[in-house]
Amino acid sequence: MDYYDDLKNVESYIEMAKDCFATELISKLKLYLKKHSTVLELGMGPGNDFKLLMENFHVTGSDKYLHFIDIYKKKNPEADVLIMDAVMMDTDRSFDCIYSNKVLPHLTKQELDMSIQGQWKVLNENGILFHTFWKGNEAEYHGGMLSQYYLEDELKEKFSKGFELLLIESYREFEDDDSILIVVKKIEKS
Ligand SMILES: C[S@@+](CC[C@H](N)C(=O)[O-])C[C@H]1O[C@@H](n2cnc3c(N)ncnc32)[C@H](O)[C@@H]1O
Repeated sequence: MDYYDDLKNVESYIEMAKDCFATELISKLKLYLKKHSTVLELGMGPGNDFKLLMENFHVTGSDKYLHFIDIYKKKNPEADVLIMDAVMMDTDRSFDCIYSNKVLPHLTKQELDMSIQGQWKVLNENGILFHTFWKGNEAEYHGGMLSQYYLEDELKEKFSKGFELLLIESYREFEDDDSILIVVKKIEKS
């Protein structure tokens, strides 16, 4: 059983994150993506980013863990949300953008490679990926959930096949330089 298969862990994460809003990050997304574009959010969790994204885009939320989706859907029955593992990217829908905020660190390095390949398939032509990571060298487990850290060069390499780099930059979430944002655009694979 995974950490977020336990409803208590999901409820306590939702409570802990209730005042966390990625306002600056989503303002930045608006520089790369036209209003009303379609966005798939991976790992929507409590749905804080999802709600902000909805102000400008047509958003589909997703998460691997049923409890997050159930809780959000009960409060927002009209929301377009689905259960999806970011590793498998198992959907027959396509999107102009795939967005995630501190979700892909939960994947192993090998799973991230699989996810990136799957994301390429799910993106529309000229579509973009907009993802954040924790910055560093280490890997940690919190309650059985992996947090895999990355440096810029490794992320650039991982997102190089079939994508053009638009932006990679460090930013502060809790401490200076603790996070990385990467934005890439889909191109044909050579
Ligand atoms: C840091 S939270 C993201 C919070 C979200 N951005 C928000 O607005 O509150 C990480 C989320 O990733 C989800 N997650 C972890 N592994 C996943 C996977 N393999 N596929 C999809 N979601 C996953 C977790 O269930 C959790 O909701």
